Amino acid sequence: MNLKLRAQEMKVFFDRKTEGYDDVHGALMENKIAITRALPDGIRTMLDLGAGTGLELIPLFDRFPDACVTAIDISESMLGVLKTRPFADRVVCIAGNFFEVPLGCDYDAVISSAALHHFDPDGKRALYRLIYAALKPGGVYINSDRFYESIEDQEIDLRDYAEDPNRWPHMDTPLAMEVERALLETVGFTDITFEALDGRYWLNRARKGTVSV
Ligand SMILES: C[S@@+](CC[C@H](N)C(=O)[O-])C[C@H]1O[C@@H](n2cnc3c(N)ncnc32)[C@H](O)[C@@H]1O
Repeated sequence: MNLKLRAQEMKVFFDRKTEGYDDVHGALMENKIAITRALPDGIRTMLDLGAGTGLELIPLFDRFPDACVTAIDISESMLGVLKTRPFADRVVCIAGNFFEVPLGCDYDAVISSAALHHFDPDGKRALYRLIYAALKPGGVYINSDRFYESIEDQEIDLRDYAEDPNRWPHMDTPLAMEVERALLETVGFTDITFEALDGRYWLNRARKGTVSV
C-alpha cells in the first residue's frame, strides 16, 4: 500500500467534508468519550493522531484541563475547526502526514479516534513503531477505531482497495484484532486489550514496556 497516496486521499476527502463533519461524528461521541474514560489519572502530555476537528478532545479537557496535547492531522481544514475550540490554547496543531512529521517524544499517552483504519499490516507496523518511540516508558496507547473480528473481512477490504483504490471515496480497510495484537506485540507493546464499543468501533489499549525491545 502506498502510504503517501493513502494520506493524500484522506486529505482530499476530509478537506471537502469538514463542513458538517461534527454533525456526522457527533453521533459517535460515546466512542470518543471512551478514550478519556480509559486514560489513567495524572496524564499530562498527549499526542492525538488524526485529531481532525478535535471532538475527542472535548471530554478529554473536561477531565484533564491542564493537559498539553499535540494534534496531528493532514487536513488543515479539519484542524481549522479544532483551533476554534475553547481549549485550543492547550493544543499544538501540526498539519501533516503522521507517517512523515516528527511526532515528538516522552508523551504520557498517544491517543487516536476513528483515524487509523486505512493501512495494511506493513503500514500499521510502521505506525506502531513511531507511536512506541513517541511514548515515554510505561506510557499508554489508546485508539477508538474500527477493527474486524475476522481476518477474512480484513482481506476482502484490502483486496478491494488493491484492485481499485477509487472504488468509493475514503475506502476503509480495518485490520483484524488478532493481526493488530501481533503487530503491537512485535513492536514491544504489552497489556493489549480490545473492548467492544458500538459494534463497529472498539477501544484498543496497549502499554509501552519499561524495557526496550
Ligand atoms: C474520521 S476523522 C477523525 C477525526 C477525529 N479524531 C474524530 O474522532 O472526530 C479521521 C482524521 O484522520 C486524518 N488522517 C487520516 N490519515 C492521516 C494521516 N496519514 N496523517 C494525518 N492525518 C490523517 C484525517 O485528515 C481526518 O481528519
